[in-house]
Amino acid sequence: MAATPEHVITQDPPSFTALSVLKGFIGTNFHYTSEFPDLVDEETKRWSKFILAHVLRSYPWGTSYAITSFQDASSAWLNNKFYEMFGAPFYSLHLAMRKQYVRHALNRAIEDGVEQVLYVGGGFDVMCLVEHRRHPTVEFFEMDRGLHWQFKRRAVAELRQAALEPENNAIMIRALRELAAPLYDVSEPGTNLHYVEGNMALPDWPDTLMASGFDPNKPTFIAAEGFTMYLTPEQLTLWYSKLLPLLAPDSQLLLGLMDSTQQRRPTLMKALLRQTNEVYGSSFTPEQAPGHLFEHGFSPFERLHARQMLGILNFLSPEEVQATPVMSENYYVSRIRKPDDVLPEDDALPIANIQIRREEPAPSSSFFSFS
Ligand SMILES: C[S@@+](CC[C@H](N)C(=O)[O-])C[C@H]1O[C@@H](n2cnc3c(N)ncnc32)[C@H](O)[C@@H]1O
Repeated sequence: MAATPEHVITQDPPSFTALSVLKGFIGTNFHYTSEFPDLVDEETKRWSKFILAHVLRSYPWGTSYAITSFQDASSAWLNNKFYEMFGAPFYSLHLAMRKQYVRHALNRAIEDGVEQVLYVGGGFDVMCLVEHRRHPTVEFFEMDRGLHWQFKRRAVAELRQAALEPENNAIMIRALRELAAPLYDVSEPGTNLHYVEGNMALPDWPDTLMASGFDPNKPTFIAAEGFTMYLTPEQLTLWYSKLLPLLAPDSQLLLGLMDSTQQRRPTLMKALLRQTNEVYGSSFTPEQAPGHLFEHGFSPFERLHARQMLGILNFLSPEEVQATPVMSENYYVSRIRKPDDVLPEDDALPIANIQIRREEPAPSSSFFSFS
């Protein structure tokens, strides 16, 4: 079945990395949720699959691929193997863990009194879509360059549109309908969710953000995962200088910074990233990272390194954790720097306290089990 004309992309393709995060996230579901049942919640899983199916359908070649991508286990397995081979081992587990961390920090910040959330480089992530309904008095702003928010908005609209053509029994529509049915009740976006287009490498994004209702007098939780590495040091400096004046006291910033000591960049991955203009521009050693944040106006008070995530999951021995090449991003939560704050050392910062329940996998009953 050919993609319908209104779904065909006419502008820039979506970010390759946003798409790979979305797929990796779904890979978690396939590979790890029997062992870590709380790692990805049911609503997040369904939205992620639905949005992936919608995005893939946007490509002229996408329809059949979309079906296999969310229905066929072997495709999920292949996707995951691809990213583990060309991205990093435990790629999808890392993505699910960091999402747990962002959500944990977001909910803690809301308990601390923040009234706005600004999620930067949102890609195809569904956290704001899920969380804005759970916190109706908090305003959620999600920013990205390009058309990611339009895809998400269209996916939601499509879901609501007569529950996806009830009379149409084409295999793709039927599969989408089944996937989307449990989401119908949560698919009306609240007025507290705002998708805003903005390029963080340019100076004008704060104007667009303010025009969409962002209030600099309200304390804000800002989160950016998998984002800062696409800016050069100069662009990052400009970004911080534009961000700080927007932040009321008691705002908090969660930022992922690429770890320059853990680089693992196969040529194929680099070539794919160049296709969507996603060239790495900045990275830091763990020793440099707190100083970088401090220099730009923030006092980090907590950290979670990619390697520590594997340790928290407690399914590799400490020796194996040390020996495993990990995805190269470390995360820090900061407050706005005050005049008498002192620069902390990375290893003096407390490690985030994330608990992930683990269940022993049930013994396989069949000699021919492929799970
Ligand atoms: C690796 S994806 C991460 C997406 C999302 N944070 C997640 O975890 O699923 C990187 C995202 O950063 C966005 N991005 C890269 N450079 C950007 C820029 N200059 N301005 C705004 N967004 C940017 C990309 O469009 C993409 O959606």
